[in-house]
Amino acid sequence: MKILLLGKDGQVGWQLQRSLAPHGDVVACGRGECDLVNPEQIRSVVRQIRPDVIVNASAYTAVDKAESEAELAHCVNAQAPAILAAEAASLKALLVHYSTDYVYDGNKTGAYVESDQTAPQSVYGLSKLAGEEAIRASACKSIIFRTSWVFGARGGNFVKTILRLARDKDSLNVVADQVGSPTPAALIATVTGLVLAMVRQGRLLDPGESRLYHLAAARPVSWCEFAKTIVHLAGSVPGFDLRLEAAAINEIPTWGYPTPAKRPANSRLDCSRLESEFGLLMPDWQPYLERMLQLLALKQNGY
Ligand SMILES: NC(=O)c1ccc[n+]([C@@H]2O[C@H](COP(=O)([O-])OP(=O)(O)OC[C@H]3O[C@@H](n4cnc5c(N)ncnc54)[C@H](OP(=O)(O)O)[C@@H]3O)[C@@H](O)[C@H]2O)c1
Repeated sequence: MKILLLGKDGQVGWQLQRSLAPHGDVVACGRGECDLVNPEQIRSVVRQIRPDVIVNASAYTAVDKAESEAELAHCVNAQAPAILAAEAASLKALLVHYSTDYVYDGNKTGAYVESDQTAPQSVYGLSKLAGEEAIRASACKSIIFRTSWVFGARGGNFVKTILRLARDKDSLNVVADQVGSPTPAALIATVTGLVLAMVRQGRLLDPGESRLYHLAAARPVSWCEFAKTIVHLAGSVPGFDLRLEAAAINEIPTWGYPTPAKRPANSRLDCSRLESEFGLLMPDWQPYLERMLQLLALKQNGY
């Protein structure tokens, strides 16, 4: 099986290089090899490689910046997936793509299921939903995973931001009325590999069939609870020299930390569909965070 991986240098893409390797010959491309703002380059890369599976982990993910770069966000998150879907359809290839909790408005009381109404509140959310819709409207076989609050040792994310702030600050205010599941990039990549293997082993999709799954770690928390856990755990890992203590992280409401993009208050994703169809159980995010902190400490000390 030939797999074309796009976005190899992102949080998820980096982990996919590892998790896809056992499932076929992986051709991994970053922005240098395939710039998603260049439709001709996208078509030419796909036509040259002629993959059985395209895994698209690249995206415009700067949520706040997207508010002032709507065209670019739309180009990368909606137009490029549409081109990939058309190319996949003509090769009869499977397209695997990632989307976000930000397609919801966050007003639901319980966890979101895949059939819930979407209502993005931000340019980023709108662009990601447009990407999903373009894929579903195409004739290609596709699997779309909606995930949330991604973190990992590679790339920029909330964990790294908190660690950076914790080095210098005595206290910190963090939003406590937005709830979601921090999801390790490594988990997303491992589940993608497993699902791909199972799909290849008989749960084949019909031509043009598009499947949508929520993929998030268990145990949703608020950003504030997540920040406290990061600082608490990092405090016991040798190598971190943090000034901030978890007890000095204060809960604030969303209105106390204004951002250009509006974010959903409720980002909880119900993963039952993914778990029951593929016999999986989404794990807690904390052991992944512990391993990430150990790795970062080693790196920091020149390992
Ligand atoms: N991060 C989150 O919290 C989060 C939450 C929910 C859903 N998701 C979704 O999960 C998926 C993976 O996200 P991630 O966290 O791994 O994202 P990421 O770390 O920001 O990586 C995105 C990758 O896309 C690449 N990219 C951006 N613009 C490009 C362009 N014009 N041409 C080619 N490549 C381009 C970036 O390249 P460079 O390295 O060159 O910049 C980067 O490697 C995305 O679909 C995202 O929307 C993410």
